[in-house]
Amino acid sequence: MKVYLDNAATTALDKEVLDAMIPYMTEHFGNPSSTHGFGRTTRAAIEGARKSVAKSLNVSPSEIFFTSGGTEADNQAIRSSVHDLGIKHAITTKIEHHAVLHTLEALAEQGVIKLSFVNLTPNGHVDLKHLDQLLSENERTLVSLMHANNEIGNLLPMKDVGEICAKYNAIFHSDTVQTMGHYAMDLQKINIHFITCAAHKFHGPKGVGFLYVNGNIKINPLIYGGSQERNMRGGTENLYGIIGLAKALEIANRDLEEHQKYITGLKKYMVEQLKEAIPGVDFNGSCLENCLYTVLSVRFPQTENAEMLLFNLDIAGIAASGGSACTSGSDQGSHVLRGIGVDVTRPSVRFSFCKYTTKEEIDFTVSKLKQLFTVKEMA
Ligand SMILES: Cc1ncc(COP(=O)(O)O)c(C=O)c1O
Repeated sequence: MKVYLDNAATTALDKEVLDAMIPYMTEHFGNPSSTHGFGRTTRAAIEGARKSVAKSLNVSPSEIFFTSGGTEADNQAIRSSVHDLGIKHAITTKIEHHAVLHTLEALAEQGVIKLSFVNLTPNGHVDLKHLDQLLSENERTLVSLMHANNEIGNLLPMKDVGEICAKYNAIFHSDTVQTMGHYAMDLQKINIHFITCAAHKFHGPKGVGFLYVNGNIKINPLIYGGSQERNMRGGTENLYGIIGLAKALEIANRDLEEHQKYITGLKKYMVEQLKEAIPGVDFNGSCLENCLYTVLSVRFPQTENAEMLLFNLDIAGIAASGGSACTSGSDQGSHVLRGIGVDVTRPSVRFSFCKYTTKEEIDFTVSKLKQLFTVKEMA
């Protein structure tokens, strides 16, 4: 049996998405910038995809810019805030994705911005009072806080953060890479300036995403070149990627409630089964409360076998992710788990689910884990 429980890293392409993409890899190959019929066909397809994405977020198509994925979109949001919106101070957390953290840290190291870290509560949520305080003490600020953490799943109360940002006229960017296609989003109800997306996190293709830019702000390109993306991103568009992204988001939104319910059930089931099978098991982050339903971060007891946990799971045909056991001198463990003060000498593994995950796969995984921990106790 092969079990894939690493859906926060990437998801399998949906067959329906592939079917929508194929015509744009074969008969519709025109360059969307060409003015002849071949080009007009593909241009129309891209604008159709933009409309569909915009509709799902309740924004204008002119506020959607296709990119190469989440990393580029995060970079554009942050760098544009600094270069074009006069931002000299940014607030973030120590547990952001590196696409955000490393970009902000580089700008701080270059002396371009001052960077502040907002406090986290013991289970890894943003301390909103501290956010308010930091904003009140500083000049116009960029607040960059992810919607859901990719390792522990903790969810940000976007509406509340948006309100605090509005009070101080701050720019609000949220990395929504892990939540796009997993929650309904109405951006008219949130005071927000930038959100980001990567299609491969919801059964779309890799190497394509988008940046939402609130129409009230004007920024310059990150990548200069041709006049693609209304002069915001030079380079011939990833045509079939964009078609795939829009189709994947349409499917995700169409089936949202059903999948939310199904995957939440699987996650709860795995929590219960693990508690029963492995004494001393713990969960990182807020686990079942205010937490992304596709992600479960498990902290195992410290045993010899535990150190080889991911390797042993892989041998058993189970794909998960972690690397957070801090075993060697150079291995610092996960920056997220360290950021929330978790004991990184104990091995943690992130299991992440999708609509294709089955109860049988969870049973198989829990039974393998139980074996791994039981064998050690007998040795
Ligand atoms: C929260 C978050 N932000 C950004 C990214 C980067 O996305 P991409 O690899 O598509 O550029 C990821 C992907 O792992 C992510 O989980």
